[in-house]
Formats: sequence, structure tokens, C-alpha cells
Amino acid sequence: MQLSAALPSMLTGIILCSLRAAALQELRHPPRKIAVVGAGIGGTSAAYFLRQKFGKDVQIDIFEKGEVGGRLSTIEMEGNHYEAGGSIIHPLNLHMKTFVKELGLKPRLPTASLVGIYNGDEFVFQESEWFVINVMKMIWNYGFNFLRMYMWVEDILDRFMRIYRYQTYDYSFSTTESLLHAMGGNDFITKLNVTIDETMQKSGFSQRFIDDIVVPAMRVNYGQGASVNGFVGAVSLAGTDSGLWAVEGGNKLVCIGLLYASKAQLVNGTVTSVQEKVRQTKSGNTVRLYEVSYETDKGRTLDMYDIVVIATPLNKGIGNIAFNGFDPPIETFSKPYHQTVATFVHGRINSSFFGCPKPCQLSVSEILTTDRPNLFVNSVSPVYPVKPVTESVISKASDIKVWKVFSPEPLTEEQLRLLFETYHAVLVKNWLAYPKYSPPEKLPPIILHRDIYYVNSIEWAASAMEMSAISAKNIALLSHHRWFGKNGQIDQEDLAERLKSEL
Ligand SMILES: Cc1cc2nc3c(=O)[nH]c(=O)nc-3n(C[C@H](O)[C@H](O)[C@H](O)COP(=O)(O)OP(=O)(O)OC[C@H]3O[C@@H](n4cnc5c(N)ncnc54)[C@H](O)[C@@H]3O)c2cc1C
Ligand SMILES: *[C@@H]1O[C@H](CO)[C@@H](O)[C@H](O)[C@H]1NC(C)=O
Ligand SMILES: *[C@@H]1O[C@H](CO)[C@@H](O)[C@H](O)[C@H]1NC(C)=O
Ligand SMILES: *[C@@H]1O[C@H](CO)[C@@H](O)[C@H](O)[C@H]1NC(C)=O
Repeated sequence: MQLSAALPSMLTGIILCSLRAAALQELRHPPRKIAVVGAGIGGTSAAYFLRQKFGKDVQIDIFEKGEVGGRLSTIEMEGNHYEAGGSIIHPLNLHMKTFVKELGLKPRLPTASLVGIYNGDEFVFQESEWFVINVMKMIWNYGFNFLRMYMWVEDILDRFMRIYRYQTYDYSFSTTESLLHAMGGNDFITKLNVTIDETMQKSGFSQRFIDDIVVPAMRVNYGQGASVNGFVGAVSLAGTDSGLWAVEGGNKLVCIGLLYASKAQLVNGTVTSVQEKVRQTKSGNTVRLYEVSYETDKGRTLDMYDIVVIATPLNKGIGNIAFNGFDPPIETFSKPYHQTVATFVHGRINSSFFGCPKPCQLSVSEILTTDRPNLFVNSVSPVYPVKPVTESVISKASDIKVWKVFSPEPLTEEQLRLLFETYHAVLVKNWLAYPKYSPPEKLPPIILHRDIYYVNSIEWAASAMEMSAISAKNIALLSHHRWFGKNGQIDQEDLAERLKSEL
């Protein structure tokens, strides 16, 4: 009797409660305008995910001072286009994979090449066409370090993959540290504080293996050696996996496609400053908005936004955005970006330079290097056009190819003449490519102010296309939850355990 009397009132209570929550959420009008600064993969994927979360009515403006794609960019040489910036994508980079599928683009599998690792005097490792010979060479020289490395990277990848489930279930993180912690616990966070050298030594890898194999992978992927942090080091080693791919026509097509799919408006201009403004509404309330100043070829303009997403590094000489009048101040980050020069050369490589005087033929085509002071290149690799071309167009003579040389400084003519026996075309692209990593790494915040978010915080853990996309999705979720007060979807602990039972 008592129970049946209590039940209806309890039910009414519950219903009232949820009605009130719903009413609260409705009280908050959705944002009207969102600004995204930067149309690289970070900014365009942010626009895409923001559209998914906030719906069709919000106006999204995306500011770009250069080309759509940013560090995803191709160069044209003798009528063919080649990837000049970010070029390879891991088979488990699920956001990139989904974009390519949804945008109707096609993957392009890179042409296989045999890798050799050169130490300035000789090749310390040369891949052969024969699998069995490779395995024997690896074991002979490095014991089971190779096998152990694959297992080590796989274990890290396994935990990395958790982020996709969290994001599918709408969970977000307010700092890059808490995002990494949710994936890989303290182990991931600790990797930010020590070098890849220390990390791998602690895991039992031999110093010879680290110097000969691990460091060359760091040098080709990040232009830096054993002193990068352990997390970006692990990401870099995942880049030695098989099944790597790129986008047919150029990786930047993903950015162009996302921009279009997001129905964002592209503003060809340079954002110079952001400032908070308080405005009166017609009903007498006050609203706080962000005033974004930017320069286009028509001059200086201002616009007001509810949410601002910064999708470019804010470091000196890159973003150049002033945050005026914020208390506490929003800092622009002073740690530098690393210069990597990509030199494209159409010519014949000088095999003598690599310790193989004529008539010797280099048996490898992709040359990585160890960390030696006399070496002025990080890597020398053959490259192939982003659009498939018929065999007859690619020079049949296998040693006359288009090569991409990575180096920390622009190559002098003398250096080019050492590297190449003959050449007839040279193009240079000078990048501020990725952070100069030096653990312990202090990651910049994601939330710069109430509704200002920073996609490129994640680059200080590791810079890669997929990392920018993960950060962009996190920010779309985070900004949405914070706007509507859904705190239960932010920084939750033990998600890995909790989501297991939701399977
Ligand atoms: C040589 C090289 C090789 C690489 N290799 C790989 C690889 O193989 N695989 C991989 O995954 N990653 C690779 N990367 C890293 C990858 O390219 C980057 O991590 C990724 O492209 C970063 O994208 P983003 O959108 O965050 O930044 P960006 O691409 O830098 O985009 C930022 C954009 O903002 C614009 N901008 C800046 N300031 C302003 C302003 N004030 N107003 C308006 N616009 C502004 C810039 O013009 C730029 O277009 C490589 C990078 C380089 C340079
Ligand atoms: C923006 O304008 C500049 C100069 O007019 C041009 O070089 C650049 O390609 C334009 N960028 C975009 C994204 O349209
Ligand atoms: C990493 O180093 C910083 C100091 O730079 C310290 O505050 C932090 O606690 C360290 N984190 C771990 C997990 O060791
Ligand atoms: C090739 O490399 C060798 C050895 O470094 C060097 O002596 C020679 O000048 C280089 N150039 C040519 C065209 O052989």
C-alpha cells in the first residue's frame, strides 16, 4: 500500500528532474558562429566534426592565410605532383581512413623500396628482396630486438586505438594529458618525460639496435634523433609498419573534401588577434563573444564569434595571433618548431657517395641515416607521383628517378653534386615541420579560454595527420559538452573498463 503510493510520486520526481535538465539545456541557445583558424587537416577536420555536433544552423568560418591543406601539400616537378609535407598514413589511422571513404577518395599504396641504413662510412643494414635473408640479417645483427620492437609498438598501438571508442561514445578530454592518460595510463604520460633512447633502453633494447635502427626512423620522420620524447618516438616507429598508404591525388584532398563537407565558409585571410567583448542583447542580458580581427586583400576586418578553435601552432613565427586583454594572459608558446628541408631532385644518385664506387650498383633505394656529425642528410628516398602514371612515363632506367632528400639545412650546390652524379631539376621546400622535441615535454593547454580551443596542443606529444584529427574531434565534443553543461562526458576515469561492459 505504502509502496504503491510512494511510487507515483517518485516517478513524478524523476520525470520532473529530467524535464528540468532538458529545460536547462534548452535555455542555452546553440552557438551562432564558430571561427576556426587554419585550414590544415586539424582545422578542416575540426570544422567537419563541429558541424556534426552542432548541427546545420551554426555558421562556421574557417580562416586560412595560405593554402588549404597547410602542411599537407604537393609540389609540381616536370608535370607530376609529389607529396612535399605529411606523406604517409598508418593503416590503423581510423579517422583518416574514414575521411577518405566518406569523401569518395582513393588510397594509394606506396611503391615498395628496399631500405638501407647508412652511417657515413657504410651501410649498417641493407634490406634484401628475400624475406628469409632479411630475417637472418636482423637476428644475426640484433638478436630478437626487431621482433621485440614490433611487439612493443603493437602493444602501444592497441592502447592508442582506445581513443576511437571513447570518441564514438561521445567522451572528451579537457587536456592532452588526460586524453593520453585515458588511452595508455601513466605509461603514456611517462613517455613524454623521457627520451626514446631511455624509454627503449628501459624496455631492454640494445644500444646498437637503438643507434642503427631506431634513430634513423626518428631522423626520417621527425628530423631529430634519440632525444625526442618516448611517445613521438613510438609513433615514429609505428611508421615503419607495413601497409602504409597515402591519398591518391594528394593527401591535401582530404582537407579540401572536409572543408566542402563541413559547409564551412573559407575566409582567405590572416587572423591577427582575438579579444573578448561583452555585448547587451535586446532582452537586456549580456553575452560574451570573441572578436576576431583578420586581414584580407580587402583590408582589415572584425567579426564576432561564440567559439574560436585555433588549428595552427601558436609558436613564434607561425600563428602570430595576439590574444588581447585576457586575464590571466593567453601565452603564445615559445618552444621552437624544427626546420626540415625537403629537396626534390630529378637525377642519378652518386653511389660512390654511399660507399659503393662504380661499377657497383646500390642494391637499396631508400636510404636512411644514423646520427653522425659528418652527415648532412637525414634521408634520401625515391618518390612517386600522387596520381598513378603509366610505366612508360616513369623513367625505366632505375637510377634516374625523382628523389626526396630531407636535411636540417638547405643543401648547397656542392652537397647536391656530391649526392647526385647528374641531375637536371631541383625544387626546395623549407618547413617549420614539427615541434623540436625535448623531454620533459610540457604540453600546451587545449582550453585557452572559456570557449577558445587549441587543436595543436597534441603536436607536442606527437605531430601527425591522425593526431590533429583526433584532437579536432576531441575539441568538437569538448566544446559541445561544455557549451551545454554535459560534464559527465568530460575527463571520465576508467573509460576502458566501463566501455568494455557496454560492448
Ligand atoms: C616534411 C613533413 C613530413 C611529414 N610527414 C608526415 C607523415 O608522413 N605522416 C603524418 O601523419 N604526418 C607527417 N607530418 C606531420 C603532419 O604534416 C602535420 O602533423 C599535420 O599536417 C598538421 O596539420 P595541422 O592542420 O595541425 O597544421 P597545419 O597543416 O600547419 O595547418 C595550419 C594552417 O593554419 C594556417 N595559419 C597559420 N596561422 C594563421 C593565421 N594567423 N591566420 C590564418 N591562417 C593561419 C597555415 O597557413 C596552415 O595552413 C609531416 C610534416 C612535415 C612538415
Ligand atoms: C589566398 O590568397 C592568396 C593571395 O591572393 C593566394 O596566394 C592563396 O592561394 C589564397 N588561398 C586560398 C586558400 O584561397
Ligand atoms: C613529468 O615531468 C614533470 C616536470 O617537468 C612533472 O611535473 C611530472 O609529474 C612528470 N610526470 C611523470 C608521469 O613522471
Ligand atoms: C660522388 O661521390 C664521391 C665520394 O664521396 C665523390 O668523390 C665524387 O666527387 C662524387 N660525385 C661524382 C659526380 O662522382
